[in-house]
Amino acid sequence: MCGIAGYIGDSPCEEILLQDLYKLEYRGYDSCGMALLCNKKIETIKAVGDISHLSSQIGGHDARIGIAHTRWATHGKCDICNCHPHLSMNGKWAVVHNGIIENFKEIKNTLLSKGYTFHSETDSEVIANSIQYHDKTTPIQAIIRAVRHMRGSFALAILNADNNKIYAAKRTSPLYVAHDGKCGYVTSDVATFIGKVAKYYRMEDNEFAIIDTQSVTFFNSSGQKITKELYSIGTEMELSSKGEYPYYMLKEIHDIPKALKNTYSHIKYSLDRTQLLKLLKGKKNIVFIGCGTAYHAGLHGAYYFEEIGYHTESFYASEFYYRKPRIDRTSVYILVSQSGETADTFACAKYIREHKGKIIAITNVPYCALNNLADMVVGTTAGKEYAVASTKAYNCQVIAMLTLAVIVKDIPVDYDRYIDRLQFDYDLPDITGYKKIFFIGRLADYITCMEGALKLKEITYINCSSIPAGELKHGTLSLIDDDTLTIAVCTNSDIFDKLRNNISEIRSRGGHVILITTLDDVDCDVDSIIRVARTSNEFDQISIIIPLQLLAYKTCITLGHDPDKPRNLAKSVTVE
Ligand code: M6R
Repeated sequence: MCGIAGYIGDSPCEEILLQDLYKLEYRGYDSCGMALLCNKKIETIKAVGDISHLSSQIGGHDARIGIAHTRWATHGKCDICNCHPHLSMNGKWAVVHNGIIENFKEIKNTLLSKGYTFHSETDSEVIANSIQYHDKTTPIQAIIRAVRHMRGSFALAILNADNNKIYAAKRTSPLYVAHDGKCGYVTSDVATFIGKVAKYYRMEDNEFAIIDTQSVTFFNSSGQKITKELYSIGTEMELSSKGEYPYYMLKEIHDIPKALKNTYSHIKYSLDRTQLLKLLKGKKNIVFIGCGTAYHAGLHGAYYFEEIGYHTESFYASEFYYRKPRIDRTSVYILVSQSGETADTFACAKYIREHKGKIIAITNVPYCALNNLADMVVGTTAGKEYAVASTKAYNCQVIAMLTLAVIVKDIPVDYDRYIDRLQFDYDLPDITGYKKIFFIGRLADYITCMEGALKLKEITYINCSSIPAGELKHGTLSLIDDDTLTIAVCTNSDIFDKLRNNISEIRSRGGHVILITTLDDVDCDVDSIIRVARTSNEFDQISIIIPLQLLAYKTCITLGHDPDKPRNLAKSVTVE
C-alpha cells in the first residue's frame, strides 16, 4: 500500500529511483512521483497512473539525491494534486508517505489558522507543512516534533532543500534503510536492495534516520542516537520475473506445484514439532484470522484442525479486532498473511499479544511485522508473489495448515504424489457474457467457492458471489434466470446428491450451470463439466481451486483487463 524509495550517492538518481518504483509498483499504481534535490532546490516530477507514465519525464535533472513514491489512494482522488511527493508551503521540504494520518484534519485546521496553504486533499501534505512549522532547530528535531502530534501510521522519506541528506521515519508501515559506504537507500520493500547491497537495517516504530553519502545514523523519538542491527538479504529474496508468461498471475498459478513442494517439505523437515506441541498443550480452541484470500485459507485450516479434534473459529481480521473478543488461555491464534504486513491482521496480532494470547503466524516472507509478534512462525516459502490476486500463496497457505494438522497428529502422508497430479490444462468456457455469477458448494467446497468468487470479481469486475448451496432456496434463488451463471463445486461424494438437487432447482428456473468436480461418473444436468483429477479429501481443495484461478485469469484477459494490477487494489494493504 504505497511504495517508497530513496537514493543518495554519487550517481544520477532518476533512473535508479524509477527502477525501484517498478519493483514497488505492486504496492499501488494510482499515481507516482519523485522529488529530486538539484542545487539546493527541490524539483518534483509526477504522473497519474502506473510507473510507465513517469518514465517520459526522467533524465532531465542532475540530481544525486531523491525520493520517490507510488501511490494507492486513501485520501483524495488519483490526480496530480494528490500525487506524492508533497512539498511544504516554503518548498524547503518534500515528503513521501505510506500510511494514514488519522488526525490530519485537526492538524490541517491548526496549520490553516496559522496561515499555511495546502494544494491537495491528502493526509500526507500536512506532514510537509507540520515539519516546516516545527523547523526551529535541526531538521531531525523538526521531523520528530511534527510526527509526535500525529495519530495513525507512516513510513516517510523526506528531503530538505538545505541539506544533502535523506531523512526517514517510521510508525507501523514498513521501512528499510541500507548503506554501502558511498550510497544510501531507503525503501518500503527490501526487494529494491537486491543487487545493490548485501545488508540492510529494519526500522522499528518511532525510529528516525539521517542518511548521507557516508553513512546512516538512527535516532529514537527523544532524538538520541541509537545503534541498530544489520540483516543480510537472504537468498529467498531473489527478484522474480514473468519468464515465458505474459502476466505474473499466470506464472504464479503455474508456480503452484513447485511452491507447494517447497512449503510442504520446508514445514515437514524444519518445523520444531516439540515446540508446536508445547504451544498447543492444554489448548482446546484454534482461532484462524486473516483478510481476503488469507481468511479463506484460514477457513480451510479450521476444517483441518476440527478433524483432528480441536474446536475452531475463523474471523476476518478487520472484524475480530474491533469486536475486542476475550483472549482465551485455552486458545491458540493462527494469523495468516501472505505479506505479513496487512494492517488489519497486524492489529489483531498486537491485540492478542497485549492480552497474552499465543500466536502462530503463517506468512510468506522471512521478515515482517507479524512474524515479530508471533510465538511461532510457519513460512509458506511460496516465493514472492507479485500479482495482486493471490494464487500460489493461497495454495501454500492451505497446504501449510494441512501439514501443521498432520504434524500435530503425527499422521504419515505424502503430498508430493498429489502435487504431481495437479492439472493446468483445462478447456474453460467463455463466461464473459454473464453479468451475475454465483458460486455454490457445500462444506469445504463452499470455502473454495468463496475464494473462486473473490478471484473472479477482483480481476474481472463481474459481480459475483458465493453461497452455501443449501442456502440458495432461502433467498438468492430469486435472482436466478437465464442471464445467470452458477458455478458449482463438488469434491465430496457424500453430499453430491444434495448439490445435484440445488443444481436442478437452478436449471428449472432457466439458470446456466458449470460443474467443477473431482468426482467420477457424476450424472447431472449442467451446461458443462470441468473434471479435476481426484487426490484425497483434504488435498482436493488445493487442486480444485486451480481451474477457478485459471477461469478468473482467462475471463480477465478476454475482457481486456490487466490481471496483475486490478483497478482500485494493491498487493499489501497496510491501512486499516
Ligand atoms: O498479505 P495478506 O495475505 O495479509 O493479504 C490479505 C488480502 O489483502 C489478500 O489476500 C487479498 O484478498 C488478495 N488480493 C486476494 O487475491
